[in-house]
Amino acid sequence: MCSSAKSVGSLVHVFCVNYMSNHLLSLWDFDKQQLYSYIRRALQLKREAREGIRHHQLDGKVIGLIFEKPSTRTRVSFESAMYGLGGQVIYLSGRDTQLARNEPLKDMARVMARYVNAMVVRTFGQEVVEELGRYSTVPVINALTDLFHPCQVLSDIMTVEEVKGEIGKLKIAWVGDGNNMANTWIQAASRLGFELKLACPQGYDPDPGILAAAVKEAVKPITLLRDPVEAVRDVDVINCDVWASMGQEHEQNERVAVFQPYQVNRELLAAAKLSATVLHCLPAHRGEEITDDVLEGAQCCAFDQAENKMHIHKAILEIHILAEG
Ligand code: CP
Ligand code: NVA
Repeated sequence: MCSSAKSVGSLVHVFCVNYMSNHLLSLWDFDKQQLYSYIRRALQLKREAREGIRHHQLDGKVIGLIFEKPSTRTRVSFESAMYGLGGQVIYLSGRDTQLARNEPLKDMARVMARYVNAMVVRTFGQEVVEELGRYSTVPVINALTDLFHPCQVLSDIMTVEEVKGEIGKLKIAWVGDGNNMANTWIQAASRLGFELKLACPQGYDPDPGILAAAVKEAVKPITLLRDPVEAVRDVDVINCDVWASMGQEHEQNERVAVFQPYQVNRELLAAAKLSATVLHCLPAHRGEEITDDVLEGAQCCAFDQAENKMHIHKAILEIHILAEG
């Protein structure tokens, strides 16, 4: 999909030939080297934040956050990231825009691009961010759709690399729903070359097209299982998420019954490596997909993941906005 590369300082980024700007719509828009450029830059920005170094590279730039679903972490970390680089933010909830009154996405994209230097969008359909991307002359960043959550998985991978080292040498498990996070981890496994074992109940599998394409490209196994104990056996990282994602609240009760064997608790953790790290992108439903003691335990990195969202969002904004000149 993407072809021509442009240098941004020491960072290399790619423009997608289908688009008039460089968007972040899915991890598959990027190769391994590009995915690592976000992570390396985020780690550097994190160190510099700790040292009190102030940044101004996005002085005079403005981003628009268009969020049609609720958010604590993604919204605040994008806002904090943008202010931390010297820029400004305009936040629009689903109710605030004319999208709520069916203004065409192609009009919204072209209008917003006249006002802001990038759009960060949280919505339902992946086709919404893709349609915005087709018409926008400024970067469109996917801040979660029903299909993908690419910025989250970048910060999760950054966290894994900090805690456990190179992800390509690790075995990772996904336990629970085959949702937007699972789909994105599958993409990451194929692009970054790590082993991924998923355990999902029947009827709640990840997107079959994404899984098939990833398995074809992958250099290490990506396996879909039913048994959570088998999935976590010998893994370095156990990953989980809510059983009912945003927009599926009406399925909550039936999902709680189906997903019970997929709870990440002490017993399940015992089947993984003793040193295994637990990831949860948050928000968590304690007592459902994860027990309170595991979430609060020393093996769980959920709050580091949450912090790293801000550093990775700084890297994303810097790379994509500066690439536009
Ligand atoms: N992890 C995550 O995306 O959290 P929010 O829904 O609070 O943004
Ligand atoms: N799968 C969850 C992720 C929340 C960050 C959802 O889409 O609601």
